[in-house]
Amino acid sequence: MGYGVVARIFHWGTVLMIVVMIPVGLIMTQEIPRSIQDPLFILHKGLGVVVLVVVVLRIAWRLANPPPPLPASIPALQRRVARATHLGLYALLLAMPVSGYVRVIAGGFPIELLNALGVPPLLGKNEPLAAAASTFHFGGALALMALILLHVAGASYHGLVRRDGVASRMWPPFST
Ligand code: HEM
Ligand code: HEM
Repeated sequence: MGYGVVARIFHWGTVLMIVVMIPVGLIMTQEIPRSIQDPLFILHKGLGVVVLVVVVLRIAWRLANPPPPLPASIPALQRRVARATHLGLYALLLAMPVSGYVRVIAGGFPIELLNALGVPPLLGKNEPLAAAASTFHFGGALALMALILLHVAGASYHGLVRRDGVASRMWPPFST
């Protein structure tokens, strides 16, 4: 009645990475000593690229392995809200790394992980594009945080209040 073990590992692996990415992004953009800021930027850029790869694989897996239907007791409106929230989360999980990539490469900065792997930059320097990507990345971060709050509120409502089996469709990570 739940998600398979691969979908669960993708879900909770993504959660772990996002739980690192958001605070690191917020901290590294403050006025802090360079000795802390530089490694945080390198971590944020490298882990963000990993998020992009993992999310593309996750979406491909999801398309090939659709989850079983929700319990019949869930009202139509709640199904629609859950579906829209999940679509929005997937869209932002793609848009955040892409806008981050564009912001960095069009700004003329390096992505150390990709350099180490020998992946060449896909764009030239373009300051207006970098500025637009930066604005988008910031707005996207706010939207992602709002959707995660809504999503976690929904999951907690099902897991703690309704106890209708919806939360156990995704938790624990290694169950089937
Ligand atoms: C899931 C992926 C990502 C999330 C959730 C995320 C989140 C954030 C957050 C919360 C901030 C601080 C708010 C802001 O100033 O915009 C930020 C800033 C930033 N992120 Fe990301 N990020 C992601 C991926 C990436 C990637 C892949 C890169 C580059 C390769 C990147 C590069 C940056 C840069 C350069 C900033 C500073 C923005 C600026 O000052 O213009 N991010 N990110
Ligand atoms: C970074 C934070 C999170 C993100 C980005 C995220 C993303 C997602 C996405 C995209 C789905 C849809 C799966 C699909 O049908 O393809 C999903 C499902 C689910 N998530 Fe999360 N999630 C996050 C955190 C959490 C947390 C903290 C909980 C638990 C408190 C949770 C519980 C669930 C549950 C129970 C489902 C299955 C819902 C259903 O059966 O329709 N998620 N999540």
